[in-house]
Amino acid sequence: ENVLFVASECAPFIKTGGLADVVGSLPQALKQNDGLEVRVILPLYDEISEEWKNRMEYLTSFDVELGWRTQETSIYTLKYNQILYYFVSNDYYFTRKGIYGYYDDGERFVYFSHAVVEGLKHIDFKPDILHAHDWQAGVSVMLANILKPIDEMKTVFTIHNIKYQGIMPLDTFEDFFNLDREHMGGMEWNRMLNCLKAALFHADKITTVSPTYAEEIKYPFYSEGLEPILYQRKADIVGILNGIDTKDYNPLTDPYIAVNYRSARSKKIENRLALGEKLLFDMDLGKPLYIIVSRLVEQKGLHLVQHILDEFLQKEVQFIILGTGEQEFEAYFSDIASRYPDKVAALLTFDEGLARQLYASADFFVMPSKFEPCGLSQLIALQYKTVPIVRETGGLKDTVTSYNELTGEGNGFTFTNYNAHDLLHVLNYSLRIYHEPIHWQQLIKNVNKGQFSWKDSAAQYRDLYEQLVPTPIYG
Ligand code: GLC
Repeated sequence: ENVLFVASECAPFIKTGGLADVVGSLPQALKQNDGLEVRVILPLYDEISEEWKNRMEYLTSFDVELGWRTQETSIYTLKYNQILYYFVSNDYYFTRKGIYGYYDDGERFVYFSHAVVEGLKHIDFKPDILHAHDWQAGVSVMLANILKPIDEMKTVFTIHNIKYQGIMPLDTFEDFFNLDREHMGGMEWNRMLNCLKAALFHADKITTVSPTYAEEIKYPFYSEGLEPILYQRKADIVGILNGIDTKDYNPLTDPYIAVNYRSARSKKIENRLALGEKLLFDMDLGKPLYIIVSRLVEQKGLHLVQHILDEFLQKEVQFIILGTGEQEFEAYFSDIASRYPDKVAALLTFDEGLARQLYASADFFVMPSKFEPCGLSQLIALQYKTVPIVRETGGLKDTVTSYNELTGEGNGFTFTNYNAHDLLHVLNYSLRIYHEPIHWQQLIKNVNKGQFSWKDSAAQYRDLYEQLVPTPIYG
């Protein structure tokens, strides 16, 4: 089977979040299956480095009709790690700084979707399945379903985050589409055009990135207003847990960290000392190190942290935060770091190397998300033998189980309600377990057993494709 991934970001070319990691690593994992050819199409942003651009080859050019406008489009290709990538180039929409955040983002990605579907006639690849990711690619599912550029082609749509939907005024329909108005209904939601809803309406199958999130989004607390359509489509929704690239995130070979290790705690301490020197932060080895590595946004549960961190810092602990994001949180963390200079460091930047050095140095990784479709960083933490402390939501619930002193089971600490004192309670509990060698050693043993590669999940995607397009049996 041929599968074309459609997405707005893909590591290592361009990344703002976990979406790029998944679109970057899942095709690699799927490739292990005989007879499955996966390619990826994404916009050619200015932001993509020259190094990559120099390796691209020109493939073809054509016009794309967007309502009453015509946009020139070129496609470039690049082969990397045996996967073929197509890049959609257009001077008006994609030669800007950064990748999102423009007033016309809706139009930009509607254009991208048009270019993908029109491009199917011009590229040398006939997908059996078009697999689109998140709202930016949502309209490609709708256009594929309506225009049928390739007979029998099926569509899969993956929700990585339902909060972002790509919403535009209803009366722009004619500006963006050369379609009969009867087609507007599939895209309409609350008297607006909605790119995500268009995909939920049209896709043959809908997936999301963990089984728990697949259930959660049928209820209003999580659905961002879309629960009616999700409920309608429930027979076609499946949750498949993300994996991570365990070759890349491997403390035994990671080139970013000071000392490589498999699981030895002594090596973690060496990493911690090296990091302390680099940051000019006095690491106190008598205290456990808690870290947050995150985009600093509400989704990540930082309001809970804000409520209780002062109180938790009365205990013998150290805390380091790494990330950038909303001003409110950046200000809060730099303030608390200046009030507790011996206990807290706030690194308000994003830096892949630093992130990995933190995972390698820490005892605990804190991620109390309000919602979390899957979450990749708790998996990375586990890979680096750092104990996750999470709220039981979405993929966090599916990957972390609370340590149980009676049975000795569990690979982290969890709490249920979105409540700051429940977080504080579980932080205090983690500190107690840390100081009880019998339990701590058992917990670390459980952490060391973790396995979050793509293997099982890739097999589930393959089965899903197989349901849509059964492989013919020869002979
Ligand atoms: C989004 C979600 C995150 C998920 C990632 C990849 O960033 O917020 O939970 O892990 O997509 O699917």
